[in-house]
Amino acid sequence: MLAFNKEAKLMTDLKGKTAFLTGAARRIGAVVASMLHHAGADIVIHYRNSGEAADLLAAELNALRTGSAFTVQADLCEIENFEILINTVVSFTGRLDILVNNASSFYPTPVGSVTEKEWDDLHCSNLKAPFFLSQAANAALQETHGCIVNMVDIHAFRPLKAYPVYSAAKAGLLMLTQSLARELAPHVRVNGIAPGAIIWPEEKMSVEQQQEMLNKTALKRQGRAEDIARAILFLVRDADYITGHVIPVDGGRLLNH
Ligand SMILES: NC(=O)c1ccc[n+]([C@@H]2O[C@H](COP(=O)([O-])OP(=O)(O)OC[C@H]3O[C@@H](n4cnc5c(N)ncnc54)[C@H](OP(=O)(O)O)[C@@H]3O)[C@@H](O)[C@H]2O)c1
Repeated sequence: MLAFNKEAKLMTDLKGKTAFLTGAARRIGAVVASMLHHAGADIVIHYRNSGEAADLLAAELNALRTGSAFTVQADLCEIENFEILINTVVSFTGRLDILVNNASSFYPTPVGSVTEKEWDDLHCSNLKAPFFLSQAANAALQETHGCIVNMVDIHAFRPLKAYPVYSAAKAGLLMLTQSLARELAPHVRVNGIAPGAIIWPEEKMSVEQQQEMLNKTALKRQGRAEDIARAILFLVRDADYITGHVIPVDGGRLLNH
């Protein structure tokens, strides 16, 4: 009889591991950082402009466990600095186990008025940076048999109206997740999460628009950042045999047209 093997590498905690999360000073990234920290990992919080929020979060985590959280600043459109960035990340604890490509720019680009600058900006945070960061982090991740989680979007599967450039960049990130899973195997796993409506964008969005989105969501409610964080925790901690997949965490939004 096959019994549950308690020795199997299941539900190991993240003690002794280091996670690097981009754009993690606020909102979803900050909650993911806190949950991975709660599971035992040391955390490197990347920020671009939100230095104060990043410092506050790191101080909170360090108050729980001394020397367990660090911050690093970078504009992720400056690809040429990524080797230095990853070296800095690795220098904190001497290792890197988990890379979460979370940072993202998000704004409408209705056809007719899209500039090349907007195209480049949306592609660099949502697609180009995740690739070049993964490339720069690959050696460190190979060493620890680590993993990468990309924050995709359900709109990688179906375009968001008035957001063609963002939707295309996230669709690229979906393919990049599968592609890198092949390239970095067998020692590094690469997966993604595709959130639905979790935290409303900071730009103005009318209550009617919000309600319309929730009406199209099977569970008829917004998700919480914790729902995303739990899915990421599953992928990095418990999913040793999963690579190349993107899990929608969307309350059933993809069931609807
Ligand atoms: N919110 C949702 O409901 C939702 C839905 C679907 C998908 N997602 C995805 O989930 C992830 C997290 O969502 P979120 O709403 O929490 O993200 P967010 O607040 O829109 O962005 C996270 C951070 O990305 C950083 N960032 C943007 N462009 C950057 C650049 N060029 N260089 C460096 N950092 C840059 C910003 O850091 P600073 O503030 O430090 O400048 C920002 O705080 C994103 O990938 C998003 O696409 C979210």
